[in-house]
Amino acid sequence: MAELNVNGKKYKVDVDLDTPLLWVIREQIGLTGTKYGCGVGVCGACTVLFEGQAIRSCSLPVSAAVGKKIETIESLEKNGQLSKVQKAWVDKQVPQCGYCQSGMVMATTALLRNNPKPTDAQIDAAVTNICRCGTFQEVRAAIHAVSK
Ligand code: FES
Repeated sequence: MAELNVNGKKYKVDVDLDTPLLWVIREQIGLTGTKYGCGVGVCGACTVLFEGQAIRSCSLPVSAAVGKKIETIESLEKNGQLSKVQKAWVDKQVPQCGYCQSGMVMATTALLRNNPKPTDAQIDAAVTNICRCGTFQEVRAAIHAVSK
């Protein structure tokens, strides 16, 4: 049994404490915006915020998330309004297939909270997610649009 704080709500989940946080978010809590890609901490599709920092949720045992503030893509829309990052993603038409984009948006959200005007080098260092459609230029353009 573990008690989690996800998007400001408390959840009690009955899982093995070694279970990756990704699967608890998706299958126990039912928030499916966080995606499974590689499962080994490389691609970033599973990115969520952990105490405000972007982490790969496929590689974090749920035991490490107990008592921590977890934020998923579902937390960004408030009162029917997309976040600034989400709006920029729409305006710049970033997604192609879209599968990896919630991870991209969460990595960007963490970056811009810590650094509201990142350089290209800082974007590349912070948003290390992989997109098989190759949307990296559009991701950068959207981040710069938000940070103007
Ligand atoms: Fe977690 Fe790829 S699914 S990094």
